Amino acid sequence: MTGKEFQPILLFALITLTVLSGCEKGKTGVHSDFNITNKDIKSVTDKLPQDIRSNIIKKPQCFLEYMERILKEPPDYTVLVDKKHALSSGYVPPGLVNIRKYHLQTTRKYSEIRRIVIPDLTAMAEAARLQGVELVIGSSYRSYAYQKRLYSYYVRTDGKKKADRESARPGHSQHQLGTTMDFSPIDDNFIKTKGGEWLDKYAWKYGFSLSYPPDSESITGYKYEPWHYRYVGRDVSFVIERYFDGKQQLFLEFYDKTKEFFKKSLRK
Ligand code: DAL
Ligand code: ZN
Repeated sequence: MTGKEFQPILLFALITLTVLSGCEKGKTGVHSDFNITNKDIKSVTDKLPQDIRSNIIKKPQCFLEYMERILKEPPDYTVLVDKKHALSSGYVPPGLVNIRKYHLQTTRKYSEIRRIVIPDLTAMAEAARLQGVELVIGSSYRSYAYQKRLYSYYVRTDGKKKADRESARPGHSQHQLGTTMDFSPIDDNFIKTKGGEWLDKYAWKYGFSLSYPPDSESITGYKYEPWHYRYVGRDVSFVIERYFDGKQQLFLEFYDKTKEFFKKSLRK
């Protein structure tokens, strides 16, 4: 084979390799769409746990590719609703629909969720069904008033200290976002059920993220809730899984602190 014949083959091999490797392999250095240096990446991640930080620093270009997409997504996917950040008592999410209308299994006749969740939720339920797993939704959108009654009930029954580890105060529940759901049975043993195991493995692929993972009470303020998932969209759930060790709270706090910096650094 002559050098001239060899050149197109080499080029083809190079293109194939680049396409196959995508963001995950090969690409290093910072991203051409951002006006950001390696030093900036190091500084913006310096409060993160070491393992998470080094994961990002190792392949900043790949991480920034996801950040660029997340910056363009609805802010509702990433808004912090936790012990320190509340929704107003009057907040009602737009586009609530009855889950039952979409052939999804629920324990209640009337259970609402935001319409934007439906495509990925039905895709996820169908994928589980094909593997012999039936996902059933036990609780979804909750109004401020309903969460107020629920929290008061737990305080009366279990006392404030226990209630605060398991139930959000009104305004502080992700359920008020209309993008969060509890799968049934809402029980500590849910993780041992087929549905619980399946979601634990695959939910992130459909844009769903476990809000209160095990051994994370010091981060989230809540006990492990294997049944409670928030829809954050596929890019955010990927970043949480790949870079943030499955810790939704850590990513949302990080994003909340740094999104303006990343936005400003985007080249127009
Ligand atoms: N159980 C979770 C923390 C809630 O009440 O939203
Ligand atoms: Zn829940």
